[in-house]
Amino acid sequence: MHSHVRPFWIALLALGGVYANAAAQDAQTTAHMVYTEEQATRGEDVFWNICSECHFEEDFAGPFMQSWSGAMVKDLMDEIKATMPEDNPGGLEDSQYLDVITYMFKINGMPTGDTEISTTDAGIIEIDWRPSYDEPNDIKPYD
Ligand code: HEC
Repeated sequence: MHSHVRPFWIALLALGGVYANAAAQDAQTTAHMVYTEEQATRGEDVFWNICSECHFEEDFAGPFMQSWSGAMVKDLMDEIKATMPEDNPGGLEDSQYLDVITYMFKINGMPTGDTEISTTDAGIIEIDWRPSYDEPNDIKPYD
């Protein structure tokens, strides 16, 4: 009896797993509301308190972020942490590096949502730079 039932459930679970993975991968990008307004506002404070001594906001818009498109958020975070602030590399908290990166997302018009990005999420969320994020059907959190 069970030997007839089991393969069916295994097949169904496997199929469900494949489907869920495909859907998750599709949605885990900065085009899908992966950070919040509040987080970007904290990042803006980091920018004005520390980075603005040497940078303009424009440094992190357009071509800069486009050049990171396809990389993971964590890759950008590791790079900035290793080199910035130039006079104190690695001198900030991880959360501050991540917050200032979400401010860069904001500068680039990436949509905000209800959930903050965590350092763990940063390892699985891909930077998806676009000239515009105005396609409503494409902007759904983790869908
Ligand atoms: C004391 C000066 C200074 C401070 C403070 C500083 N930076 Fe920089 N940053 C630089 C310099 C100089 C470069 C190299 C510029 C170049 O070659 O384009 C740079 C480059 C960068 C780049 C690479 C830009 C590119 O076009 O590839 C990023 C990203 C960056 N900084 C982020 C930050 C962030 C975020 C902060 C604040 C946490 C910060 N920096 C603070 C001086 C500074």
